[in-house]
Amino acid sequence: MRIAVPAETQGSETRVAATPDTVRKFIGLGAEVVVQAGAGLASGIGDADYEAAGAAIAGTADEALKGAAIVLKVRRPGEAEMAGLPKGALVFAIMDPYGAEAQVEAMAKADVMAFAMEFMPRITRAQVMDVLSSQANLAGYRAVIDGAAEYGRALPMMMTAAGTVPAARIFIMGVGVAGLQAIATARRMGAIVTATDVRPATKEQVESLGAKFLAVEDDEFRQAQTAGGYAKEMSKEYQAKQAELTASHIAKQDIVITTALIPGRPAPKLISAAMVESMKAGSVIVDLAVERGGNCELARPGEVFTTPNGVRIVGHLNVPGRLAATSSSLYAKNLYAFVETLIDKKEKRLAVNWDDELVKATALTRDGAVIHPNFAAKAAPAAAAPAPAETAPVEGSAANG
Ligand code: NAI
Repeated sequence: MRIAVPAETQGSETRVAATPDTVRKFIGLGAEVVVQAGAGLASGIGDADYEAAGAAIAGTADEALKGAAIVLKVRRPGEAEMAGLPKGALVFAIMDPYGAEAQVEAMAKADVMAFAMEFMPRITRAQVMDVLSSQANLAGYRAVIDGAAEYGRALPMMMTAAGTVPAARIFIMGVGVAGLQAIATARRMGAIVTATDVRPATKEQVESLGAKFLAVEDDEFRQAQTAGGYAKEMSKEYQAKQAELTASHIAKQDIVITTALIPGRPAPKLISAAMVESMKAGSVIVDLAVERGGNCELARPGEVFTTPNGVRIVGHLNVPGRLAATSSSLYAKNLYAFVETLIDKKEKRLAVNWDDELVKATALTRDGAVIHPNFAAKAAPAAAAPAPAETAPVEGSAANG
């Protein structure tokens, strides 16, 4: 049973899908692991580290992939990579399949079994495999670091002989996994933190982290959480009330971090151009939702720039990748935890139970066909919502990621 870890091919991807720690564990299960030379470098892992863990190093992706039964990746295989994938191999990655139906089809045609790790149900058994949480948690942390780096003042209050430095005011919009970690990080750094969300459950979570909660708490708010634990898209009326409430608050903030998302929909627009204009020169907006359309009207994907009134708007892509060593180590553990369940430990061979709910939720392709219900037939009505949205989350677990 050979496991291949090719280098990521998307230029901006700094993460890697296996670490020396997970390589050792896979070898312990009876696997042989081949890592492409240089695959871990951007995550601070050298070839020698993988070798010391027992992996073989291959010079090229094709060599690494040769004869592999399992392929571990961060991103979906690109077109060029597809040809090198052995027929019948299990390929694990953050597949990002919405809007990429042709690529999903291509993986079926290449006769590989593709698993979308982001579709892992958010149930207790699968928490250790939850890549959305492990990566969002780090993105929330990194957003505060990025915001602080762009902000020309200190975050904590300081009383010095030369005068008192006031604490920075940080507002977090959207309090899921990333937002909770952003609150905790901003608090640890000494900022005065406020936060908002449309799900009532977040109020207590925000307050338990020592931050102040701010939201329009009307009837619609009380019903804003789906059975799966996600936010609904709010009505135009609610959005107007929310904008009215947050506008004057945003004007007084030093750093605003936005993380708001709705499954299967574009990110809600929470900060208008007028709100940005109302902010002081030197204040900072970090938009973590920029890859999904952005929460701030002015944010630009992949750009950091200053508006004419002096507000820095930060729109980094792949924020977990800005913390590659840590995000790779957690991602690799998520992958190991799942793949391990697909291996017969006694026989030391692959034994996928296709009826297992985790397999069913994540498997996109099998035996030359697209099998995931959201992609298999054009007729599938639930195509807009990812599978995880339909599974009940475990309350209170989000902050730990
Ligand atoms: P997400 O990434 O889909 O959204 C981020 C946040 O944006 C959410 O809190 C959402 O309510 C908020 N939001 C959406 N529209 C908004 C608006 N118009 N204004 C303000 N905020 C808005 O959420 P994430 O981080 O994936 O978490 C979703 C749920 O899953 C949460 O209930 C979380 O506690 C739960 N969860 C459960 C886990 C488990 O049981 N294993 C693991 C991780 C999360």
